Amino acid sequence: MESMLKVTNLSYSYPAEKEQVLKNISFDVKKNETFSIIGPSGCGKTTLALTLNGLIPNSIKGKLTGEIVVVGKKIKDIPTAELAQEVQILFQSPESQLFALNVEDEISFGLENLNIPWDEIKKRIDNILKKLDIENLRNSSIEELSSGQKQKVAMASVLVMNPKILILDEPTANIDPCSVRNFINLLENMKKDLTIIIVEHNLDFVKELSDRVMLVNNGRLVKIARPEVMFKDKTFLKIMSPPSDKKGMLRRIAAKAHIRECGEKEERILNIKNLNFKYPNNVPALRDVNLAVNKGDFIGIVGLNGSGKSTLALNIIGLLNCVA
Ligand SMILES: Nc1ncnc2c1ncn2[C@@H]1O[C@H](COP(=O)(O)OP(=O)(O)OP(=O)(O)O)[C@@H](O)[C@H]1O
Ligand SMILES: [Mg+2]
Repeated sequence: MESMLKVTNLSYSYPAEKEQVLKNISFDVKKNETFSIIGPSGCGKTTLALTLNGLIPNSIKGKLTGEIVVVGKKIKDIPTAELAQEVQILFQSPESQLFALNVEDEISFGLENLNIPWDEIKKRIDNILKKLDIENLRNSSIEELSSGQKQKVAMASVLVMNPKILILDEPTANIDPCSVRNFINLLENMKKDLTIIIVEHNLDFVKELSDRVMLVNNGRLVKIARPEVMFKDKTFLKIMSPPSDKKGMLRRIAAKAHIRECGEKEERILNIKNLNFKYPNNVPALRDVNLAVNKGDFIGIVGLNGSGKSTLALNIIGLLNCVA
């Protein structure tokens, strides 16, 4: 099968840092393969992803050795505009990706830079907004979006470029469970025309989509295997299992949440009555919210992207002025 990406003996250290964060990594990704990179926090996954689209060393310097070949060409010989049509990356935090004032401008920006006619741009934007089910956000300003909505807009701005290789760095970090399911379906549909590289902590997501999985630890490649083999592997289990004291800590937190004794008088520490909140654009973000919280309560606020979870939390700590 045709190789889309070939990495040979790649090592890297950030500017002014002595220690290498990538150590002699070699792997090969085939055409139409979905290839996931997993490993503990700080092991070098994002750094590796940044080398694959040229941001390291083009924007972030440091010491890079080894070779990356993208669709048959050495990455350092590919002009930036051409590389943008080969490889696109969706960053771990959408904020670092978005810079336009509104959604349509954000999504059209990359295509306008390639001098694509506006009719074609418009068609591609219509298509991608529909695919991601965010047609309603087309004229929204970016600063009005929730984190999950920002993630989807960032995804649209990357997909609209029709790249051959799509790199996703923790794509599910901000999106609600319902949208994760839609996202998996969307990627499943795109797999036949795309080579996808996923960096993810959500192993269910990795398992469902990946043809092969690469485990990285401390900047070194540990193993590449099919998901069903990787997730039973002893070294994988050792590296990816939480340390026992962390498990103990989680149990202690959970136990504390239930320490209120039967018959003990409940102490109300928060009372929210008919809370309504509108952002300056007049969009209602909270409607008639009622919530009573007692001392010792352990409460999860859940809901779809854009449903108002963060707005509620910001109201509770007084960072937004509520309009009751
Ligand atoms: N801009 C930077 N300058 C210096 N060191 C950095 C920089 N960015 C990351 N590092 C360091 O490089 C190492 C690898 O970080 P990286 O962000 O690639 O890890 P990661 O596997 O993506 O982690 P996570 O799962 O938390 O996203 C870490 O030790 C980190 O502290
Ligand atoms: Mg990362």
